[in-house]
Amino acid sequence: MTSSPFPRLFSPIDLRGTRLKNRICLAAHGTGMAEGGTLGNAVLAYYEARVRNGVGLVVSEAHHVVPIPGQTYPNGCAATDDCIEPLRRLVELCEAYDCRFFGQLYHEGRARMNSLDGSRDVAIAPSALPDERFHIVPREMTVPMIEEMVADFASAAGRMARAGVHGVEVLVGMGYLHAQFLSPRTNHRTDGYGGTPEGRRRFLRETLLAIREAVGDEPVVGFRIVPEDTDPDGLRLDESVEACRAIADEGLCDYISVTLGGTHSLAGASLIVPSMFTAVGASLPASRAIRGAVSVPVLACGRINQPQDAERALEDGDADVIAMARAFIADPEFAAKAADGRADEIRACIACNQACIGHRPGGHPVSCIQHPETGRELEFGTRTPTAVPKDVVVVGGGPGGMKAAAIAAERGHRVTLYERASHLGGQALLARSLPGRAEFGGIVTNLEREVRSAGVDVRTGVEATARLLLEAAPDAIVVATGARPHRPDPEWFEGAHVVTAWDVILGEAEPGPNVVVADWGCDWVGPGVAEMLRVEHRCKVRLCVNGEAMGQSLQSYVRHELAGRLHREGVEVLPYLRLRGADADTVYLQHVMSGEPVLLEGVDTLVLAYGHRSETALQRELDGRVAELHAVGDCLSPRTAEEAVLEGLRVGTLL
Ligand SMILES: Cc1cc2nc3c(=O)[nH]c(=O)nc-3n(C[C@H](O)[C@H](O)[C@H](O)COP(=O)(O)O)c2cc1C
Ligand code: SF4
Repeated sequence: MTSSPFPRLFSPIDLRGTRLKNRICLAAHGTGMAEGGTLGNAVLAYYEARVRNGVGLVVSEAHHVVPIPGQTYPNGCAATDDCIEPLRRLVELCEAYDCRFFGQLYHEGRARMNSLDGSRDVAIAPSALPDERFHIVPREMTVPMIEEMVADFASAAGRMARAGVHGVEVLVGMGYLHAQFLSPRTNHRTDGYGGTPEGRRRFLRETLLAIREAVGDEPVVGFRIVPEDTDPDGLRLDESVEACRAIADEGLCDYISVTLGGTHSLAGASLIVPSMFTAVGASLPASRAIRGAVSVPVLACGRINQPQDAERALEDGDADVIAMARAFIADPEFAAKAADGRADEIRACIACNQACIGHRPGGHPVSCIQHPETGRELEFGTRTPTAVPKDVVVVGGGPGGMKAAAIAAERGHRVTLYERASHLGGQALLARSLPGRAEFGGIVTNLEREVRSAGVDVRTGVEATARLLLEAAPDAIVVATGARPHRPDPEWFEGAHVVTAWDVILGEAEPGPNVVVADWGCDWVGPGVAEMLRVEHRCKVRLCVNGEAMGQSLQSYVRHELAGRLHREGVEVLPYLRLRGADADTVYLQHVMSGEPVLLEGVDTLVLAYGHRSETALQRELDGRVAELHAVGDCLSPRTAEEAVLEGLRVGTLL
């Protein structure tokens, strides 16, 4: 035990004789920066930012064991010797900081998302059963195919061992191929690879045996499992505990890593990277059950983003090591701050999923809405002090303005931040008021702390008019005045009771019992305010979406969770509807595809979630009259906090 405020977290542990300096693991996560399956300079810079700040163990992103062409998302690949040198560089990087590096291997099985040329590939799985998430029917693997797959895992592990990795981890859970064999839902085989719990775990057992043979005696070998499926016919905890016990008793693994989620259904998928609707430490009961049954160390992961929670889990005996992914995506210095007793300075992940896993479908590098430096380490990894300190005024204390002010001040400029409201935060203050989204307020807490510790002069409750600014004549002005709700022509709504989503969130509306929410943005505002009206005002709510689906522009796991919440609350969701007007009783809509009118009668209140309009007045007044004028965020074009904070970073770096 050390004198650290988190003595358990910062105590060492041995895995098969490999010493980890602490119990903090950077959990496996795709960075989206692999180039042609190999991990280059951008990935190296990404890991260095975290490893030099005290992480004890890094598990690499999942590497394919066979070449998978047509990936929209650039994952690592260990199917050829090309992976060896890049992995060696990562191992050396970790060793330079006394950190250990394990390589992760997987095969997606029936969870096959991509294709080479637009046509669908043949997916493989233990059984030819329809997949609920990707809507494919895979090909059942023959026994020779299974044997070949085992050999592929062994070869890939052998390559990783040649790169010098300290360990190899098989990604079993999250619904990929090994999980498909383990689960009675996806494995209906009647041969030796199915039928019974022993049969279902045979593929994993043979994989681990072959890996040990390929890597030799020294490297650690472990696997990552999700012990319990969300679906009633899926894998149950007791069967997983038994499988882990049997495998560990046979000496086939040196540790077991436990996490959440499974790609076999939308409900399972939404837990792979659990949103703020999932409880902190949700995998801990399962990791505790496994830990009680095996003699090898157990890692636990999932919604742990504070050292206090990690320490408690260790203290309670839930796990031996705590693995975290987004805690480090949001704050690369997490471990160093925890070690130094600066836990209050940790920029805690708020589980919004927006810029980390939310970047995956587009194939973009992982990032963070609170810390856009993530995934851009080569560009923003080092903060360069300014050679010419300036007087800088930032107008608007939303996320974009706060980020611009903090970065400019950190670089040595003298920065004043004006916010006309009494609190910093802008629209993020609204977002955090919606049901289940209180954690979103963390973005305000975190950015405000950065603003204040950088020494920004913060003036809330002050309207920075053009006159005031021109009189003050700073060297540079950053306008971050945000946006206001967009309201269509009032003539559309004669006689109707119409309020905006903001009015509802701010408690400034008195909705009647029957409400229609007209949702143009397909983002968090429409469903959030619909749920709020149902839960807090007990209204009957119809949510009319001008798009394919509610939450269409949200990260899919968040959208699925919202769909469940709205369904549970009895909110009726009507997609493909464009708002045309309203009167005292009726809301007039049009189906965007058929063009047919849709009339919703018996409506007391229409709530507009109709997007936003940029606040551009100040910018226009200042244009051409000040030495240096910049604008960031919604006042340029209404988007999300992610773009505002990124633009704040860019401007703060540029000044
Ligand atoms: C962008 C991203 C990519 C991920 N890729 C992987 C992966 O390659 N292998 C894996 O086992 N888990 C992967 N995960 C899941 C994480 O390891 C972790 O289980 C999950 O994010 C929940 O933990 P957290 O709350 O600490 O983020 C990924 C997560 C994220 C956010
Ligand atoms: S984007 Fe959101 S969920 Fe992802 S790391 Fe940042 S705060 Fe966490």
